[in-house]
Amino acid sequence: MRILLTGGTGYIGSHTAIALIDAGHEVTLFDNFSNSKPAVLDRLREITGVTMDFYEADVTDAAALDRVLNERAFDGAIHFAAPKAVGESIARPLHYYKNGVAGTVALLQAMERHDVRNVVYSSSATVYGMSDDLPLQEDAPTEVINPYGRTKLMCEEILADLHQSDPRWNVIALRYFNPVGAHPSGLIGEDPQGVPANLMPFLAQVAVGRRPSLHIFGDDYPTPDGTGVRDYIHVLDLAEGHVAAVEHLQQSPGFDVINLGTGNGVSVLELVAAFEQVAGVPIPTEVVGRRPGDGPASWADASKAARILGWTATRDLDEMVADVWRWQSHNPDGYPD
Ligand SMILES: NC(=O)c1ccc[n+]([C@@H]2O[C@H](COP(=O)([O-])OP(=O)(O)OC[C@H]3O[C@@H](n4cnc5c(N)ncnc54)[C@H](O)[C@@H]3O)[C@@H](O)[C@H]2O)c1
Repeated sequence: MRILLTGGTGYIGSHTAIALIDAGHEVTLFDNFSNSKPAVLDRLREITGVTMDFYEADVTDAAALDRVLNERAFDGAIHFAAPKAVGESIARPLHYYKNGVAGTVALLQAMERHDVRNVVYSSSATVYGMSDDLPLQEDAPTEVINPYGRTKLMCEEILADLHQSDPRWNVIALRYFNPVGAHPSGLIGEDPQGVPANLMPFLAQVAVGRRPSLHIFGDDYPTPDGTGVRDYIHVLDLAEGHVAAVEHLQQSPGFDVINLGTGNGVSVLELVAAFEQVAGVPIPTEVVGRRPGDGPASWADASKAARILGWTATRDLDEMVADVWRWQSHNPDGYPD
């Protein structure tokens, strides 16, 4: 198959490109570099030996989408391209609705014009809000509490309406839990711009001395050690979940929403301890107040992915941490400009 990866040079897109190539597929990456760097393409070539087919363009740009879809015959698309920071989405909602929602509509319209109707969508466990009905199953009630979460839920609903209107559309919306880790080569990984909003990249930057200490947002949650518990999933497992999803769409068309998680919860303190052990460096921490919008605990019921896609996460916490550490210690300042 040839798959279009919007947001293909981003963190999850780049790892998914490798997994698709490893599975014998061809990829075209499409990205405007708003949150990634061209150096990713060199690293991908180094890892795979393949020069990736790449378009630098914006997913809201209908003419650019038409150009790509005219020039290649695609079997489907995986739509990663979107901004993803909760705090920024509260400050700049229109940026999120334009890129996250209007960008999705523009992509789907272009796909329709070119008769490509298989799409895997990057959704998020954030659509479950602060639900404490654990483990979270796909039919749990959704609750969105910020513009970022709303863009994810709106796009799921747009895709459901589209499938309803025309069953030739085949859709899987994947609800990711907390992607961490990096390719074991240490050549690609997560490289957030500015202050990382997520725990693992922040932790990794403290470990290499880029930041003085890790702020722990609350140690008085009703969890075993008082800190927040999340379902961390290795980005390579996540990438393989996308391969399973696009392959599934070819054999069993339809519409589905599927969690990608491990089903295990890990606390902030457990993650810090694992990191200290693997990296062999102390991580200074400082407990600060709870962050608005953070719930105490969240982990997936991952059984639907196993049942429908034949996929389960296989990599454990030590592997996640070791791969992040290899990436961050080899690239303390992230990708070169
Ligand atoms: N990383 C997470 O924790 C997480 C969790 C749940 C869902 N997601 C979703 O998964 C997707 C990928 O996330 P990621 O962690 O790889 O993020 P990322 O920022 O590393 O990758 C997204 C890529 O999309 C590109 N992009 C953004 N807007 C674009 C536009 N208008 N046109 C073209 N390219 C554009 C960026 O340059 C970037 O390379 C996003 O949709 C995100 O919301 C991520």
